[in-house]
Amino acid sequence: MNRTEDRDTITKARLYVLDDEVVTVQRLVQALGKDGYVVEGFISGQEALGRVQENPPDLIIMDIRLKDGDGIDLMQRMRAAAPEMEVILMTGYAALDQAVQATKKGAFNYLEKPVRLQTMRTAIAEALAHARRKWRKNQTQQEIPDSDRFGEIIGVSPSMKGIFKTIIQVAPLDCNVLLQGESGTGKELVARALHAGSPRREKSFVPFNCGAFADELIANELFGHEKGAFTGAGSTKPGLLETANGGTVFLDEIGEMPLSMQVKLLRVIQERNFMRLGGTTPVAIDVRFIAATNRNLEKMAAAQEFRQDLYYRLKVVLLEMPPLRLRLEDVPLLAGHFVRKAANRFGKHVPQLSKEVLAELSRYSFPGNVRELENIIERAVALSQGTSLKLADLPPDILYQTSVTGQGPQASAPVEIKDMEMDHIARVYHDTGYNQTETARRLGISRTTLWRRLSKLGARFPKGR
Ligand SMILES: Nc1ncnc2c1ncn2[C@@H]1O[C@H](COP(=O)(O)OP(=O)(O)OP(=O)(O)O)[C@@H](O)[C@H]1O
Ligand SMILES: [Mg+2]
Repeated sequence: MNRTEDRDTITKARLYVLDDEVVTVQRLVQALGKDGYVVEGFISGQEALGRVQENPPDLIIMDIRLKDGDGIDLMQRMRAAAPEMEVILMTGYAALDQAVQATKKGAFNYLEKPVRLQTMRTAIAEALAHARRKWRKNQTQQEIPDSDRFGEIIGVSPSMKGIFKTIIQVAPLDCNVLLQGESGTGKELVARALHAGSPRREKSFVPFNCGAFADELIANELFGHEKGAFTGAGSTKPGLLETANGGTVFLDEIGEMPLSMQVKLLRVIQERNFMRLGGTTPVAIDVRFIAATNRNLEKMAAAQEFRQDLYYRLKVVLLEMPPLRLRLEDVPLLAGHFVRKAANRFGKHVPQLSKEVLAELSRYSFPGNVRELENIIERAVALSQGTSLKLADLPPDILYQTSVTGQGPQASAPVEIKDMEMDHIARVYHDTGYNQTETARRLGISRTTLWRRLSKLGARFPKGR
């Protein structure tokens, strides 16, 4: 039987019941059958084993003491034949200890006899939910060999393999790391991997978005405050740095941090201590800093928009996350991964990725990088109706772009100069994520001119986001 179908039709889960008391078996088979399960009953352990080997159920409910053999031994043999099958044991008081031991050998749960039907129903629902979770996890992790992934991070391109190598080298060291790369390239994912591979892994990983707060708020968030430090500070509150003690602080969007705060942060990094707002005694901390930005800090430092000294403190190791358009060979594997992830989330069958969809994706420039690919796939899986994803399930604007880049279906049609100009505007507009200010800047035209051109494009152009 097809396991996917089997698991997806939850109410039709298959259960076996094994007990040497005929009445117990009959009672359960009848009641659970009415609940909508497909149930088979057995009074012989050997017979049940044979049936499990030939056609494993989702769950077996079995007595631990059987006339024709030891229940635990039987359970282990059954699980060897059907590793995905869950087991609920039933036991008399005398064998309770044995049952507890059995959970260590793979039984999901045990119930003391006599078992009330309602208790049994709950236990079954839990065991099946557990089985589904396990199965989903397998589905998402399956099919990507270890060599093409680093934990959650997937990649086959030489540049991603290089990133994996650096993570392995740098994670255990206690040095600060700066992650630079466009939005959606996986900076946070890498930051988490660095933490997970460090001796600090048991302690917290605390992300902090440096761009999300005003100056005073940043200080309060990071350093906390003493009671009475300002109006409304009714009690002492530890800041994020204290909470993260022993762990890793992830300074996200570090390029957005106001200069006034940069100097305070630099002090913390150098001195390894700080004062709460309104405080007079320094608080010592032991944290590792990992910072991330989608801006070029070196240029910002040269333009005095970012402190040079802080920049050097942060980039002890500098990791550049490559944009997805420069490693399109990662697209098929990533796309497959996101298809499985989305299908599982929506409780749908995992659709196939057709060659034409992959070809179309591999021509696209992904201004939003891996996050955009993930969104595209999620949308496609949500829309898809058949067993495979179709071109029509992709957002129309990506199809549009692949044709304006000259590699799409319209490439050989004769074009006029004004069309080329329009195409160019459309492409830049798309690449900036439909940001008019940025598009005007890149094209070197005023916003008004851009607006006029865009309205001429009108219906021909996909809707902005
Ligand atoms: N190599 C990868 N393998 C699997 N998933 C990835 C990969 N890179 C990114 N992702 C996924 O893409 C999404 C964006 O990644 P992440 O948040 O790490 O990007 P980011 O660089 O921090 O983006 P931003 O600058 O916008 O914050 C996440 O859902 C992440 O799981
Ligand atoms: Mg991020």
